[in-house]
Amino acid sequence: MKENNIRGGDAPIPCQLEADKNYAWCSCGHSADQPFCNGTHKKEKATNPIIFSVDEAKEAYLCTCKQTNNPPYCDGSHKN
Ligand code: FES
Repeated sequence: MKENNIRGGDAPIPCQLEADKNYAWCSCGHSADQPFCNGTHKKEKATNPIIFSVDEAKEAYLCTCKQTNNPPYCDGSHKN
């Protein structure tokens, strides 16, 4: 894990995502609004959020442990 990043949680959060809307996934773990960025990475000198969108509305399990190899989605790495 990159220096200054922390785990934001120990399990993914199911989120209802809207089509063609930009989301900012917290990559640093410091946001109190997991799994989304709330700007705290600037104060913590941690990594920037990842901006993403989806083509169709869907439910997705978004990573909070920040160990995933498929951000912003959970890949089961929180169990490691
Ligand atoms: S607060 Fe974690 S990426 Fe912005």
